[in-house]
Amino acid sequence: MAENIYPIYDQMMTRAEKEELLHQQGLMVWFTGLSGSGKSTIAMGVERELHKRGILCRILDGDNIRAGINSNLGFSAEDRKENIRRIAEIGKLFVQTGVVTLACFVSPTNDIRRLAREIIGEEDFREVFVSTPLEVCEQRDVKGLYAKARKGEVKAFTGISAPFEAPAHPNLTLDTSQMTLKEEVEAVIELIMNT
Ligand code: ADX
Repeated sequence: MAENIYPIYDQMMTRAEKEELLHQQGLMVWFTGLSGSGKSTIAMGVERELHKRGILCRILDGDNIRAGINSNLGFSAEDRKENIRRIAEIGKLFVQTGVVTLACFVSPTNDIRRLAREIIGEEDFREVFVSTPLEVCEQRDVKGLYAKARKGEVKAFTGISAPFEAPAHPNLTLDTSQMTLKEEVEAVIELIMNT
């Protein structure tokens, strides 16, 4: 526990007041899945749809966050955990401001997803597993990273040389090789609206 730190949360305006101002409720939708599975594409579709409906939304995305606040982190198990811990803390700030927050991170293990859930809180956390098979992600290879990983040029690459544990009880599972983007977006919107 930090010493000489005196948080003043009790004097700040409340989450309920922010939500009343925005006429919406904060929520974290946490997308997990392999690189190239379609997490960000789905999230961007959901963002547009929410925006149309007058709902304020924020996407937090792996590559963006890793280019900024987490630029000092790599892909060891320890760094991935710290990556997710910081993102969950940032995400919590958005959720508590009443924003529908869409987090798109590989978040490859049960352990780190549990950490994210614990930080954000069970009530505010929905898990979406983008279950697109490895073969499909690898064939797409949008960023060329699978090819590099196969050649050993990228170390500890999720799905190739680092583990991905499928979540046991996601709120929603979307295989982008079996569904259209429109169907996927609708499914996530329904999950959000039924909260
Ligand atoms: S996580 O494992 O810590 O949750 P995160 O979602 O932030 O990963 O970043 C994943 C993105 O980083 C991938 O989409 C890919 O573009 C890039 N990347 C670079 N190296 C790796 C690697 N070794 N394993 C997985 N993704 C990597």
